[in-house]
Amino acid sequence: MSQTLAIIKPDAVEAGKAGKILAHLEHAGFTVRALKMTRLSAEQAGAFYEVHRERPFYGELVEFMTSGAVIPMVLEADGAVPRLREVIGATDPAEAAEGTVRRLYAESKGRNAIHASDSDENAAVEIAFFFSRMERPGL
Ligand code: RTP
Ligand code: MG
Repeated sequence: MSQTLAIIKPDAVEAGKAGKILAHLEHAGFTVRALKMTRLSAEQAGAFYEVHRERPFYGELVEFMTSGAVIPMVLEADGAVPRLREVIGATDPAEAAEGTVRRLYAESKGRNAIHASDSDENAAVEIAFFFSRMERPGL
């Protein structure tokens, strides 16, 4: 078993889609090991998406990720990182496969409902970003 970090983004939380997305993830075989609702400051969102600092959409991304509450969670499954990327679909919902979280629940490429870690290494960093050791039973 391995773990990954997902974040239900502000567009989906605000639109009341969090419950459906959580059910979708559980139905897809993930076990929720930690979960909270929080709101990111610009500094926190900027640090989380540090790798995109030079990209043209960075300012917009930070603004969006701080626009409302987010729900980060630790998900566990066999091959959790690639499996979750498959389940959420492509970054742009218009390009995401049928039945994926983004195809079903995202509004646009920028407001795309959910984040997922892109490597085991980044998953460990991102899990530690949101959850203290005490909040991560079994880790
Ligand atoms: P994420 O990190 O949130 O799971 O998304 P991702 O891997 O599918 O996409 P990534 O390239 O890491 O981009 C991070 C987030 O930035 C926003 N974005 N907007 N307007 C645009 O062209 C654009 N490109 C990316 C999206 O919210 C994307 O999820
Ligand atoms: Mg990414």
